[in-house]
Amino acid sequence: MPLASASVSVEDRGFQFGDGVYELIRTYHGAVFHLDEHIKRLYESLKQVEIALHKTPAELKQVVVSGVKRSGYAETKIYIQVTRGKAPRLHSFPKGVRPTLVMTFRKFDSLPKTLFEKGVSVISTNDIRWGLCNVKSLNLLPNILAREHAVRAGAYEAIFVRNDLVWEGAGSNLFAVFGKKIVTPPIGHYMLSGITREIVLALGRTSGLKVSEEKMTIASLYQADEIFLTGTTIEILPVIRLDKRKIGTGKPGTITSILHKDFQNTIVGQCRLG
Ligand code: PDD
Repeated sequence: MPLASASVSVEDRGFQFGDGVYELIRTYHGAVFHLDEHIKRLYESLKQVEIALHKTPAELKQVVVSGVKRSGYAETKIYIQVTRGKAPRLHSFPKGVRPTLVMTFRKFDSLPKTLFEKGVSVISTNDIRWGLCNVKSLNLLPNILAREHAVRAGAYEAIFVRNDLVWEGAGSNLFAVFGKKIVTPPIGHYMLSGITREIVLALGRTSGLKVSEEKMTIASLYQADEIFLTGTTIEILPVIRLDKRKIGTGKPGTITSILHKDFQNTIVGQCRLG
C-alpha cells in the first residue's frame, strides 16, 4: 500500500518501548544487494531479543523481492522493521501476540559524489550504548544523539569510543589504513557486524593488502594514514578529519579510493550482471 496509508497501533511495542529490530537493504540496478546476508542478520537480531517471527527467511526474501518489483523504483531503499507486536503496556512479554512486520520501499538516491571526492569530517564521542550493539535494535537514541552532535559540529559522523577504544560510527563501520594494512575493530558486542564491512575485508584480502580485525585506541586512530567508513548507503566513504585533526594528507586516501573503485566495479558489477 502507499506509505501514507500504512499505520501501526499506538499500543505497538515498537512505539511504546522500541521493542524490536530492523534491517536496511538496498538495490543496485533493481537487484537486491546481499539479501541473504541481511535476512540472516535480521534473524540473528530477532533471536537475541527473543522475538519469534511468523515468517521463514525464505518467505521474507520473497516479500522483499516482490516489494522491490511493485515499488517500481530503479533504486530502492528497503527498511524491514519487526516489533514484538501490539499489546497493553507491560514490560514483560505479552502472550499470544503476533510480531508486527513492516517493510517500506522508498526511492534511493545515492550520496552526492562530492562527499566521496572530498571526504568527510567525523568527531569522536563517548559510547553510551548498551551491551548488545551487535543487535540491529530499534533503540537508536544514543546513535541519534551522537549523529546530531556530529552534524552540529559540522561533521558527517560520530565515532563511538568506549574506554579509549574506537568501535564504529553512529550508523557505519570504521576502518583505518596504516601503510599497506587495513584495520577494523573486531566483531563482538560493541558493534554491528556490517555487511559492507565483510565485503571490504574480503576485497582487501584479494587485493593483497594486509587485513586485520583488531582493537584500536582513539590515539592510534589519529595517527592513521587513512580512515574510511562503510555502510549500505555510503559504501566506502573517506574520512579526512577526526576531531578537527587532519588525517594523513587531509585528502581521501589512495587505498580508500582503490577499495571503493574495486567495490563498485566488482561487487556492484555483479549485481548489474544479475
Ligand atoms: N546502518 N554500524 C551501525 C551502528 C549501523 O547502523 C550500520 C548501518 C552499520 C553498517 O552496516 P551495513 O554495512 O550492514 O549497512 C554499522 C544503516 C545504514 C541504518 O541504520 O540505516
